Amino acid sequence: MKTVIIYESKHHGSTKKVCDRIAEECGAVLIEAGSIDEDFNWKDYDLIGFASGIAYSNFYDGVNKAAQMIPEGSKVFFIYTCAKNDKDFSAGIKKTAADRGAVCLGSYGCRGYNTYGPLKLIGGMNKNNPNEDELKAAVEFVRKLEA
Ligand SMILES: Cc1cc2nc3c(=O)[nH]c(=O)nc-3n(C[C@H](O)[C@H](O)[C@H](O)COP(=O)(O)O)c2cc1C
Repeated sequence: MKTVIIYESKHHGSTKKVCDRIAEECGAVLIEAGSIDEDFNWKDYDLIGFASGIAYSNFYDGVNKAAQMIPEGSKVFFIYTCAKNDKDFSAGIKKTAADRGAVCLGSYGCRGYNTYGPLKLIGGMNKNNPNEDELKAAVEFVRKLEA
């Protein structure tokens, strides 16, 4: 099972931290979303993950753009870090992928360090996230999809 995760993690690297752990434990290949173009060989992978921080309730633009190129029939999953993990922030990108005929297998979200706006004046929120439990849960999420 060959898994790739296409990611963008530009605020504090929290999403990259989750992706790095999955790469270490599951052998997933990580590719920055900005480097995906029409030459990308989607068919090299059995499972395709899209990972992002959340801005204004959505995945970052680079990841959304990459998802707009996904071929029909691809098996995909979604990972995100956010300020408040209280809803499914992957709904938008999931629709993009589903509209292109991809098979959406699930999403995993957890908290990430956030210093957006006035929060930075008080040192931000979720300074210690993703924590060890959240990293382990992310690995479990991908392992189950690969099984
Ligand atoms: C401009 C901006 C907008 C954000 N919007 C949201 C949001 O709508 N909902 C949320 O839960 N978190 C929001 N956040 C928090 C980030 O999603 C969170 O810090 C995430 O861990 C960033 O991931 P990264 O470090 O991998 O880029 C926002 C952060 C920034 C900088």
